[in-house]
Amino acid sequence: MIINRMDVQGVRNLRDVHIQPACGVNLISGANASGKTSLLEAIHLFGQARSFRTQRIGSVINHASECLQVTGEVGEAGGTTLHRIGIRRCAQHTRIRLDQQDVHQISRIANLLPLQLLTPESGALLEQGPSQRRKFIDWGLFHVEHAFLGSWQAFSRALKQRNAALRCGEGSERIRIWDQALIENGERITRLRQEYVESLRDPVSEVCRRLLGFYPQLHYRQGWRQETTLEDALDASQERDRQRGITTVGPQRADLACLVEGKPVQEVFSRGQLKMLVAAMRIAQAGHLARIQQKQPIFLVDDLAAELDRKHRRVLLELLAETGAQTFVTATDPELIDVSPWQERRVFHVEHGKIAEVV
Ligand SMILES: Nc1ncnc2c1ncn2[C@@H]1O[C@H](COP(=O)(O)OP(=O)(O)OP(=O)(O)O)[C@@H](O)[C@H]1O
Ligand SMILES: [Mg+2]
Repeated sequence: MIINRMDVQGVRNLRDVHIQPACGVNLISGANASGKTSLLEAIHLFGQARSFRTQRIGSVINHASECLQVTGEVGEAGGTTLHRIGIRRCAQHTRIRLDQQDVHQISRIANLLPLQLLTPESGALLEQGPSQRRKFIDWGLFHVEHAFLGSWQAFSRALKQRNAALRCGEGSERIRIWDQALIENGERITRLRQEYVESLRDPVSEVCRRLLGFYPQLHYRQGWRQETTLEDALDASQERDRQRGITTVGPQRADLACLVEGKPVQEVFSRGQLKMLVAAMRIAQAGHLARIQQKQPIFLVDDLAAELDRKHRRVLLELLAETGAQTFVTATDPELIDVSPWQERRVFHVEHGKIAEVV
């Protein structure tokens, strides 16, 4: 799915934006503080009803507005419209419309528009705690495995209840009530994640070969001792869980380790290398999605030139073009971004929040 048309009101400094992006690459250039990242943020709002920069929607809504609104059409490359989407967010209220009807789950929209984000801060995926890496894996499963979302929701509900019981100091029997749902869904989630990480190994290596010349190894760490079942792990940890008031074993504690020469990449790689590795992981993920579901994500690439030299910029742009995904790339200096690998391309210039296509 691609975005054929998008209208934006009340997002940051953007002023009445109406764009018709190309199905290939869209280069968005402009000076610092002109509104480039805000445009990517608007696309993110369109697909997920939230920003990637902050949880506080009040910061995203234009200072002079009460609400923000992003509406538009998505469809196939070539211009046919398949769905109309509308997102309206005010301080206390969110409204999501899909094809003239209110919808209450953003997953309905997110499912249509898988978004892949690359920013100058992308390396944080590898440098910070495991929750972002779990999200990376779960993004893939959400789009590839229909059963995943249900298992994840059931697991999360049971985990919440078990943690509440632990905090209230309930007895063993009351805590065990929740274990069955945890074990059943937790084991399923773990199996799906393991298989998914397995299936990403070769594609990530292949992209890394071209972009980095290194071969990092991905390893899924399931969140409890490898050779035990989740049931045994929960039993063994119950005393500790009770003391801490939280469930300390299970897929909510899982991690994705990336090793190069047996060492964690975050302790070995430069910042540029970390950023490229994350890009490689996301490009590999897009390729996997296309193979399994014949679905393309949309790449939002903020400040692509940051921290990348000319050679790495070129290879990254080639790899992005090869995914076949609609891509939005921002740059202060458009000369640094060679869009020739794409056939379908449009260039937009942003100035004080106004966006115009450069013909
Ligand atoms: N809620 C808001 N209302 C109005 N303007 C805002 C709001 N939030 C941020 N801004 C302003 O919007 C402008 C655009 O910010 P944005 O981050 O999109 O710039 P940019 O083009 O990506 O710049 P850079 O090249 O420095 O990354 C900035 O001047 C910022 O101060
Ligand atoms: Mg920016």
